[in-house]
Amino acid sequence: MNRFLHLCSSLLICGQLSAQITYDTHVKPVLARRCLPCHSAGEMRSGLNVESFNGILKGGGSGDVVKPGRPTTSILYLAVAHEGNGIPRMPVGGARIPEAEINIIKEWIAQGLLENPASQPKGPVAPSFDYKPAAMNKPTTPAMLAKLPVAPPKPKARAHPVTAIAASPWAPLLAVAGHETITLYNLESRQPIGALPFPEGIPYVLRFSRDGAILLAAGGKGAQTGKVALYDVATGQRTITIGQEVDIILAADISAGGKLVALGGPNKIVKVFSTATGQQIYQLTKHTDWITALEFSPDGSKLATADRAGGIHLWESAAGGIIVTLAEHKDSVNALTWRPDGKLLASAGEDGELAVWDVAEGFPIATDTKAHIPPAKGPVYGTPQSGILSAAYSNDGRIATVGRDRIVHLWSTLGKHQSASKQFPQMLTRLTTSADGNLVIIGDYNGGVTLWDGKQALPLHVPQK
Ligand code: HEC
Repeated sequence: MNRFLHLCSSLLICGQLSAQITYDTHVKPVLARRCLPCHSAGEMRSGLNVESFNGILKGGGSGDVVKPGRPTTSILYLAVAHEGNGIPRMPVGGARIPEAEINIIKEWIAQGLLENPASQPKGPVAPSFDYKPAAMNKPTTPAMLAKLPVAPPKPKARAHPVTAIAASPWAPLLAVAGHETITLYNLESRQPIGALPFPEGIPYVLRFSRDGAILLAAGGKGAQTGKVALYDVATGQRTITIGQEVDIILAADISAGGKLVALGGPNKIVKVFSTATGQQIYQLTKHTDWITALEFSPDGSKLATADRAGGIHLWESAAGGIIVTLAEHKDSVNALTWRPDGKLLASAGEDGELAVWDVAEGFPIATDTKAHIPPAKGPVYGTPQSGILSAAYSNDGRIATVGRDRIVHLWSTLGKHQSASKQFPQMLTRLTTSADGNLVIIGDYNGGVTLWDGKQALPLHVPQK
């Protein structure tokens, strides 16, 4: 469901998005047409009178119906948009009012409840989520590897799918997961640097720390072991191995500053460890299905975790206090990715939906469920394979996604679809973005890696057989 049809799609056309919306000029006529039989001075159902500006500010039986600048938490908006749990759907007994009128109410609240053109906003206007690249977590000298003692592995007869891929946020360094190994590449020369052994099994997760100094690998062997390994990026040395899991690890991350490691997998429990001692600090048992994705916020203060049933929870990372539950997905959440400034979190899943969350409000500012539906060549039988497998916010604030349609999609920072690659011949599995934000780097089912700059695909130099 597209919860927030973009304003451009209706009465307010794009160029006029910033047009001033006031109660007297725009909102009053809508409410008069739709709501007065039940919410006037003479007929105040639920104690609410929308006939006058002051009547709305007074609110109804359950208190305030509008919060300036916050449409998605204002009952007046939720009631007419038919959103939110436990909010009555208005008008009672009637159809949902036209989208354009809902958008007028939404925009009026977003602009701070102006009564007339001479009014001042009543409070904060809706926050702007424009993105400005920031220096958060930027190291003075980005860690970069020149050479590793272990040579990159030669391609095997039976290729191993790319189960995880990660690029340093600050250096031209790429890590690609293979069977019991992680191959590192220099993204400028596109040549291999060497390999890190991961004898614990298959790495299902690769992550660079926010400052790019540590590489995390997590995975294991099905129904046997699960481990997280940390490597010093400057030297390639393994510094610590964490976890005694008896099954694979499917999701893991290291917090900014490197103090905490979180991991999760089929046992539905998220465990958080101290990297100083290797000991578990706390665990989170709220998920009802396999843990499929997790990521610390860029400042390390929060932890987002997701599961195979579509559940997402946001935690305060120091001690694991719950902040909010983000309900939107109907199927496995395959990716969670924070925008580098920490204001927005994107989630993507097997239901084909990309949701972009305003973290402060715990509400999606954009959702799209259609982008990854594969282009049909002839009749389509059954449900199209529209699942999203991997998603990443890049350093320039855009989002890249890859799905079962074998297409890479690019999105604006606010989750608006921008462009798509051609359909790849091979199945794609995971993606990441380069530090400069110019490249999407995609791993595939055959163990191959493609660099895509938005126009053309560049090869990575794979060692010869
Ligand atoms: C046919 C009568 C009717 C119409 C028309 C109607 N409402 Fe209501 N409204 C009600 C009733 C009855 C309730 C109480 C419902 C409940 O609590 O479940 C209510 C409750 C509400 C509330 C919750 C108030 C509170 O504080 O609990 C809001 C907000 C609201 N209406 C807005 C609107 C708007 C906006 C419109 C016009 C688009 C509208 N209503 C049209 C009958 C109506």
